[in-house]
Amino acid sequence: MRKLAAGNWKMNGTSAELGEARALLTAHPTPGCDMLLCPPATLIGGMVQIAERSALMIGGQDCHAAQNGAHTGDISALMLKDAGASHVIVGHSERRADHGESSALVRAKAITALTAGLVAIVCVGETEAQRNAGETLAVIAMQLEGSLPLAHDNPESLVIAYEPVWAIGTGRTPTLAEVAEVHRFIRDTLIRRFGDPARQMRLLYGGSVKPGNAADIFAVPNVDGALVGGASLKASDFGAIVAALGHH
Ligand code: 13P
Repeated sequence: MRKLAAGNWKMNGTSAELGEARALLTAHPTPGCDMLLCPPATLIGGMVQIAERSALMIGGQDCHAAQNGAHTGDISALMLKDAGASHVIVGHSERRADHGESSALVRAKAITALTAGLVAIVCVGETEAQRNAGETLAVIAMQLEGSLPLAHDNPESLVIAYEPVWAIGTGRTPTLAEVAEVHRFIRDTLIRRFGDPARQMRLLYGGSVKPGNAADIFAVPNVDGALVGGASLKASDFGAIVAALGHH
């Protein structure tokens, strides 16, 4: 399984930052892992041009559950695909929290994304209070149950990202044993749900992945890549993470 280094720029970046994508490609023209950047929608077109015929793939950060219609300000999976995106993140904890997105809505978005021909990156993760209450695996189970399509047999097009909410943007990470426990649990859950193809589905860890901790996290079983926020904004940091992943 080829690993995936995915960067989520969130609501950061104007055209001035397109140079970071150029610098990333210059430094890593043939990375040892798949390389994806998910910039804000305004930069997708520009970044797709930079990434043309290169190893860099471009994705969106969210899409609407409907294919089109009267939804002012929203973006559809079809539009992302048309702009040159290959992936889309759905169910990020910031969307679940800021926009009250339910798992049922996330599932609808994932299905629309898959139908449009995009790879769906479905995010799950517990809050700090849930972890402290010993509810982590129960929360992950519920989110997987509600957020994933009922059936899916193409391991290439469905990616799960485990992002503990309390580890996002905080510089804090679970222990490697805790990452291993949750990723094993996600793998087992996916296999029960989808059967053998789930052995080939990529499970990303996200939450304060940095050049300094990437190699350790990538050595954990069932970690098939990373979803990186802050450290994906700078080509040098993201490049170091790409390099660490390429060695696994
Ligand atoms: P940070 O890497 O900034 O903690 O963000 C993780 C994340 O939310 C990626 O989607």
